[in-house]
Amino acid sequence: MNDKLKVIAGLIVFFAIFSYPFWNNIFNKENPEHKPVLSAEAEKAKECVRSKDYMTKEHMQLLDIWRDKVVRSGERVYKYGNGKEYNMSLSNTCLGCHTSKAEFCDRCHDYASVKPYCWDCHIDPKENK
Ligand code: HEC
Ligand code: HEC
Ligand code: HEC
Repeated sequence: MNDKLKVIAGLIVFFAIFSYPFWNNIFNKENPEHKPVLSAEAEKAKECVRSKDYMTKEHMQLLDIWRDKVVRSGERVYKYGNGKEYNMSLSNTCLGCHTSKAEFCDRCHDYASVKPYCWDCHIDPKENK
């Protein structure tokens, strides 16, 4: 390797280390500032109604499916691969396990600047107590 290449390699390494806090903060979902906090109930249950990967990316679609099934077809029981049955309810089921909307849903939504309007009608059981 000639010296010029070494200098360039050195600069790249330096830049990567120097900028680490920056891009780590932007891209790292594990960053404690916006990492959703699992409730004791969720920790105990260990798994969500679908895989974590699916939930992270598709929970909005799943909620739409739940709503349509309940409102249009009057179905209330959701059963997926893990064999467990869930009552398709945003307030009772999702927030029954993710018991703190603020620590779980809101932390991530605030970071992503998403403001679901669901809470105009659906209750956060905690707020209601
Ligand atoms: C019985 C408890 C339980 C119920 C009910 C439940 N969850 Fe979960 N949820 C979990 C657990 C546990 C995890 C973490 C899974 C893991 O780490 O593998 C999780 C993960 C998630 C994630 C991914 C979080 C991340 O860090 O990316 C989202 C989003 C989510 N749930 C939303 C929902 C929604 C919306 C509902 C209702 C449709 C719901 N959950 C119902 C227990 C539950
Ligand atoms: C790991 C981060 C994360 C967690 C945890 C999370 N969400 Fe989300 N949620 C998002 C993101 C990002 C979007 C926007 C996705 C998009 O626009 O495609 C979103 C969108 C939504 C939407 C659609 C909103 C709209 O206006 O289109 C609903 C409804 C929703 N989330 C409900 C929930 C509920 C309820 C919980 C807690 C039980 C929750 N989410 C937890 C990241 C999260
Ligand atoms: C204008 C009021 C209103 C808004 C806003 C609203 N909903 Fe609903 N939703 C209802 C009503 C009414 C029902 C029927 C309740 C029932 O039959 O149990 C319902 C049912 C549901 C159900 C199935 C039953 C239950 O109790 O959870 C889901 C899931 C649901 N909505 C999700 C959502 C999501 C996600 C949002 C936001 C993106 C949302 N809703 C916004 C009024 C609303």
